[in-house]
Amino acid sequence: MLKGILNYAHYLLEEAIKKDETVIDATCGNGNDTLFLSKLVGEQGKVLAFDIQKEAIAATKLRIIEHERTNVSLIHDSHGNISKYLRADKDEKISGAIFNLGYLPKSDKKIITKPDSTITAIDTILKHLRRDGLIVIVVYHGHEGGKEEKEAILKHLFHLDQKKYSVLRYGFINQKNDPPFILAIQKKAD
Ligand SMILES: C[S@@+](CC[C@H](N)C(=O)[O-])C[C@H]1O[C@@H](n2cnc3c(N)ncnc32)[C@H](O)[C@@H]1O
Repeated sequence: MLKGILNYAHYLLEEAIKKDETVIDATCGNGNDTLFLSKLVGEQGKVLAFDIQKEAIAATKLRIIEHERTNVSLIHDSHGNISKYLRADKDEKISGAIFNLGYLPKSDKKIITKPDSTITAIDTILKHLRRDGLIVIVVYHGHEGGKEEKEAILKHLFHLDQKKYSVLRYGFINQKNDPPFILAIQKKAD
C-alpha cells in the first residue's frame, strides 16, 4: 500500500535515524513527532523540539511527561534560531529533523511557519547533518501564506547541489483541496 503523508514521513525518519543520535523537531506543536523521535533515538539520544507558541511547548511537555520521556529538550524559540542551540563547529551532528509547516490545528491560524525562518532552519540543519542524515518537511500549503512558503522552499531546494544532496517530493496528485506533500533532503556528502 502507498503510505499516507504522515506515515511516510515517519517511515523515512525510521530508515535514516539510529539510536543514541541527536535529532530535531522544528515545529513541535502538540508533540506527536517529538514523541516519535524520542522513542526512535532512545534514552541515550537527544531530541531538540522547537516551537514559537507557549501553548505548543506546554502541550508537548505534557505529552512527554505522560510517556515518561527524558531525552527531550523543549525550546520556546523560532527554528530560525536553531544555530544558537548547536555548537558552532560542525561537530555537533544531527541525524534527522522534521518540519510540519503551517499552523497548529485548533489554534490561531495566523501563527504560521514563514519562508525566511523555515529556510534559515533548513540551511542550519543541513550544515550539521551527518552523511545519510535526513530532513523531512511536511508541506501544508492550503492556508493563507502557505502557497508563498511552499514556493520559496521549492525554489530553494531546487538549487541544492545534487552531488551533496538528494531531494525527494512525495505526494498524492489526485487529491482535492491542496493536499500536503513531503519534501525530504538526504545528505550524500559533506
Ligand atoms: C502544523 S503545526 C505542528 C504540528 C506538530 N508536528 C504536532 O505533532 O502536533 C506547526 C507548528 O509550527 C509552529 N511554528 C510556527 N512558526 C515557527 C517557528 N518560526 N519556529 C518554530 N515553530 C514554529 C506553530 O506554532 C505550530 O505549533
